[in-house]
Amino acid sequence: MKNNLSNIKKAIKYLNKNQCIGIPTETVYGLAANAYSSVATDKIFKLKKRPKKNPLIVHYYNIQSLKNDCEINDIFLKLYKKYSPGPISYILKLKKNSFISKNVTNKKKTLAVRFPSHPLTRGLLKKLNYPLAAPSANISTKISPVSKKDVKDEFGDKITFILDGGQSKIGIESTILNLVSKPQILRLGGIPKYQIKKYLKRNLSYAKKSKIKSPGQEKTHYSPYIKLRLNVFSPNKKEAFVLIKKKKKNSKNFFYLSKNNNLKEAAKNLYKTLRIIKKKNFKSIAVEKIPNKGFGEVINDRLKRASYFK
Ligand code: TXA
Ligand code: MG
Repeated sequence: MKNNLSNIKKAIKYLNKNQCIGIPTETVYGLAANAYSSVATDKIFKLKKRPKKNPLIVHYYNIQSLKNDCEINDIFLKLYKKYSPGPISYILKLKKNSFISKNVTNKKKTLAVRFPSHPLTRGLLKKLNYPLAAPSANISTKISPVSKKDVKDEFGDKITFILDGGQSKIGIESTILNLVSKPQILRLGGIPKYQIKKYLKRNLSYAKKSKIKSPGQEKTHYSPYIKLRLNVFSPNKKEAFVLIKKKKKNSKNFFYLSKNNNLKEAAKNLYKTLRIIKKKNFKSIAVEKIPNKGFGEVINDRLKRASYFK
């Protein structure tokens, strides 16, 4: 705990100097900077090589700290009570007099907000007098990081400080809900769609087919930049084979996301495993069929995008 406190102090020191740092969250690690500062947020786009038109998620300690920046509505309150802090992000209307930097929103009138549950990052947010803009801490379109080491892998010495919070417990990005008009899912993620539907007792459309340009909807994303085949029954000899249940005959080319079909565990291990396979220099990845339900739906979404690159 003592160590945690001194690391939080260090984090604050860098953030107050308008620098970007790595922060742990329960979903994936973020590349964080003061969301009220254009100087600081500008650095996020540069480091990530992220197009300026792609807005950032802003992380708050609680609803109280959000009230100056966004309009609060009933459905948000209901979801906040149940799921926050946790792996869900909400798109809300930005208040006219909010301090959020124009860089964050790409001059849009909406803001993506999230309340991460990781205790270290909560400890940090509680002590700051500004919220943190933090996209996933990876170079644009590449695999998201789930540990301090992964962030180091992405940025090397280009960032001076990463708050070490161990491996991310969920391991996959937050679910994003648009709450500005009729609630709609923009990105599948850490809370499965069916759970939110059940809780709200209403159907939720998924923006895949809508006109809204939404998060992670770029064709290439989360990609190891290796050939990746889905729904494979028998892999080629030299391929890495990604599995979710134990095979009778093992091979050094087999990589288990789970050994007993546990899809939540599989989601947690997905990015970590893709990174290991890439490091081992495999030229091709085959993935066995993953049931398209609950966390399986999220895994399939990420794998489809990961497989799509030129
Ligand atoms: O779990 C997460 O959400 C992680 C952790 C670090 O919190 N963050 C994350 O950020 O995944 P990022 O930037 O990699 O993905 C957020 C997505 C972006 O693709 C962006 O297009 C979308 O959220 N987004 C941000 N603001 C938006 C807005 N106002 N309207 C619609 N989409 C928005
Ligand atoms: Mg990302």
